[in-house]
Amino acid sequence: SDAVPFYGANQAGIVTPAQDRLHFVAFDVVTKSRDRLVEMLREWTEAAARMTAGRDAGLIGAVAGIPEAPPDDTGEAIGLPASGLTLTIGFGPSLFRNADGVDRFGLAARRPDALADLPKFPGDALEAEISGGDLCVQACANDPQVAVHAVRNLARIGFGVVSVRWSQLGFGRTSSTSRDQATPRNLFGFKDGTANLKAEEEALLREWLWARSGDGPSWMDGGSYAVTRKIRMLVETWDRTSLMEQEAIVGRSKGSGAPLGKKDEFDEPDFAVKGADGELVVGEVAHVRLAHPDQNAGARLLRRGYNFVDGSDGLGRLNAGLFFIAYQRNPHKQFVPVQLALARNDVMNEYIRHVSSALWACPGGVAEKGDFWGRALF
Ligand code: HEM
Repeated sequence: SDAVPFYGANQAGIVTPAQDRLHFVAFDVVTKSRDRLVEMLREWTEAAARMTAGRDAGLIGAVAGIPEAPPDDTGEAIGLPASGLTLTIGFGPSLFRNADGVDRFGLAARRPDALADLPKFPGDALEAEISGGDLCVQACANDPQVAVHAVRNLARIGFGVVSVRWSQLGFGRTSSTSRDQATPRNLFGFKDGTANLKAEEEALLREWLWARSGDGPSWMDGGSYAVTRKIRMLVETWDRTSLMEQEAIVGRSKGSGAPLGKKDEFDEPDFAVKGADGELVVGEVAHVRLAHPDQNAGARLLRRGYNFVDGSDGLGRLNAGLFFIAYQRNPHKQFVPVQLALARNDVMNEYIRHVSSALWACPGGVAEKGDFWGRALF
């Protein structure tokens, strides 16, 4: 079957080979009751286990219940297979202490240092209403209807406990997280995900992806931190830029994805090689050089983003871009230094705008039936 196992030491949806579609949702908790919140997380977990197996959200299902009551599944996934659905939960900094400094659920002492708010980056144009949130669920699937169905049913189950703060649809994975996958392309037309962390690189995953005992509070052991950034891409401006300039900005060739001056997509870039004119072949401020581990104390990220086109902007342009998602062991040692280097020097900045930002602590996996999302935290 095309179902991804839900139970395990780590949550699915991180090293799982990236599916084609995304529905990402951030929630605000609207109840004051810790018990109601925990009860909802139990219900969510049961529904998630069922939906990722290709079943209805509830035990009765969309059409088998009594006609006088709303069904315990909304119905739009009837007849559709599991479609590789994964549901990954994360907890935002505001769950531990909200913007007014209030610790609503008695969790402040359990907040990991790694979940400290991200700093402001040069050029950030963040919109508060599509940033942050108390909880998130990343739904990935190979059928968009299956991902939307899952998010919608979690929101339905959470009525009165959480409300949707923002959500994002994505298509065309912009990364590969396994060596078996071909590298897809982002909306600049370049291969994206070539130098990504991959599921097969176990030693690197231990060092750079999974939080472990001793890193912080034990409820995050086996978990990972996600940074999400909605990055608008000014594709009309990009499309008027020469191929040569585009390749210089990225530092890779557009056709093959090879580093400039090399032949093969997976050749290692050489940042010292100079051309006939004495200039560096991969320029000092090329995206792949600025983001490269050698420039960032070895830091690696597992990128798992998606393209988006949210209609148009009323100014004759597509509202298009990259919904960037990156998982890591400690965002303050990984995403933050890389993004600081990019925000300061990346020529790509002329063509992109970061419009939303969020940070999430995604705990270890749900071990078995009866265990639930966030049990170790609460
Ligand atoms: C590499 C595009 C934003 C981190 C790449 C590559 C492309 C690309 C085409 C080369 C292929 C690959 O190795 O995946 C973009 C676009 C972005 C964007 C279009 C924005 C719309 C970011 C951000 C970060 C980032 C925000 C992190 C802060 C990286 C890293 C690499 C990379 C770590 C691999 C570098 C290496 O080791 O060679 N990106 N990127 N990118 N990008 Fe980005």
